[in-house]
Amino acid sequence: MCISAVSVVLLLFILWMLVVKLCRQADSQSDGDAKESKQPEAAVPKLLHSLSKRFFGSLSPSLSGPPSLPLLGNMLDLAQEHLPIHLTSLALRYGNIYRLNCGSTTMVILNNSEIIREALIKKWSDFAGRPHSYTGDIVSSGGRSISLGDFSEGWKAHRRVAHSALHRCTMDSLHSVIEKQAHHLCQVLRDYNGKAVDLSEDFTVAASNVITTLTLGKSYDKSSEDLQKLQDCLNEIVSLWGSPWISALDSFPLLRKLPNPPFSRLMKEVARRDELIGKHIEDFKKNDHKKGGTVTSSLLQSLEQPQGGASQMTLTETHVHMTTVDLLIGGTETTAALLNWTVAFLLHRPEVQNKVYEELCGVLDVRYPQYSDRHRLPYLCALINEMLRLRPVAPLAVPHRAIRNSSIAGHFIPKNTIIIPNLYGAHHDPEVWDDPYSFKPERFLEGGGGSLRALIPFGGGARLCLGEAIARMEMFLFTAYLLRDFKFLPASKEEPLPDLRGVASVVLKVKPYTVITHPREK
Ligand code: HEM
Repeated sequence: MCISAVSVVLLLFILWMLVVKLCRQADSQSDGDAKESKQPEAAVPKLLHSLSKRFFGSLSPSLSGPPSLPLLGNMLDLAQEHLPIHLTSLALRYGNIYRLNCGSTTMVILNNSEIIREALIKKWSDFAGRPHSYTGDIVSSGGRSISLGDFSEGWKAHRRVAHSALHRCTMDSLHSVIEKQAHHLCQVLRDYNGKAVDLSEDFTVAASNVITTLTLGKSYDKSSEDLQKLQDCLNEIVSLWGSPWISALDSFPLLRKLPNPPFSRLMKEVARRDELIGKHIEDFKKNDHKKGGTVTSSLLQSLEQPQGGASQMTLTETHVHMTTVDLLIGGTETTAALLNWTVAFLLHRPEVQNKVYEELCGVLDVRYPQYSDRHRLPYLCALINEMLRLRPVAPLAVPHRAIRNSSIAGHFIPKNTIIIPNLYGAHHDPEVWDDPYSFKPERFLEGGGGSLRALIPFGGGARLCLGEAIARMEMFLFTAYLLRDFKFLPASKEEPLPDLRGVASVVLKVKPYTVITHPREK
């Protein structure tokens, strides 16, 4: 049994090496014309091309894309170390919309805001699906999460219930929940007394506490073992699920028969997650849920009401469980990563932090900002917008699926095509942004030329980020408190400034760095 699996893999490998060689030869011959012809696969020998067609199903004929290897398709492109940057560079060659193949699946990559808006907003009902996948089903309890659940009447009802629970619970209290965490974060930074430190964990704790307060009515200390366990496990799931070792299992079912240590770890972490969240919900049911006021209590109460309606949707405790997971995953590493990016960029450009500080002092004097002050703090808002543009922390959003035959930018898109909105690419599109790779908050000031319409860090349409309002308030208040109270200084003259390229998985994060938080005189 084991020997036959090994020989199949060996055979595939030999076939693949042969094909890579032939395709490379063909590609190098056609390299010069690829851009103009927009049909690079025309250079691949006919036999290979029809082979690939046989394996990958019918492609959208008018869409170009990099040469696709039989059996492997464009797996080598998809396994690139910084996928958003790689996909953006392919757009320079193949245009703002191009295709990639992966196993039997065709993916269409969208790299420009207008094209992304067409698919996600204008034609939302054609593209609101999520791909079904073997590993996606494992991490989402069979598609019963909001983020990975496919578009259906049941999913719509689930999202609607979660959205209104979130709205009810944040309406009155969100501002004070974030303020409390922002004050606490500033106190933690003060206690470092000028030591050079890595702030990423503090940002994670602050963002996580906002979500755990909203969902479970609890917040945690940085040293809390419960918080550590939960965060380690959720982070591990996100990073493993984003790895090519795991995504290969979705496209190549044969690989599921082989030992795969990252996949075994993923399974273990998912079981650990379910045990931890399950315990929280059980405790919550025993003690707090009748009190109300949190998203989880609101959702548990909705289980007790007849749901019926046209959809006949039945929300189960698994939906409540997975909503908690969705909010914790969606709401922690994203906000924390953006704060960490902001400090990293400000170390490179200290004059920007001084400008924000002067604006805060000029407008508010010594008082701490409220979210309602944002219209009087344009430079701070411009800084946040520039961070969302340069480092959209969900750089490739979450893959969408065409629910029916449709079109994007005039290209026919067959049902079940996977759509990848490359938000990173859209935010670096030279046709839209002047000097797109430079950090220039001023572009978002009046007359600065920055386009708010082209800024789409939260996606759009039916799958718009469920936490956008929370994230925007968090970004505003956390950044304002931090820059009001501290000057961020490089750890030392000898150490290089933070690397701004980052590490891209599902979330785009800055590489670890240390910083000195120097309290501002008041
Ligand atoms: C700076 C912070 C954040 C950014 C940039 C961000 C961005 C995104 C993006 C791009 C998507 C995918 C949209 C699509 O599929 O087209 C998404 C989905 C989602 N986000 Fe966020 N997000 C942030 C914070 C949050 C927060 C704070 C929460 C929860 C409180 C959250 C919860 C979710 C959920 C549940 C989804 C899935 C929505 C669905 O599939 O219908 N996010 N987010």
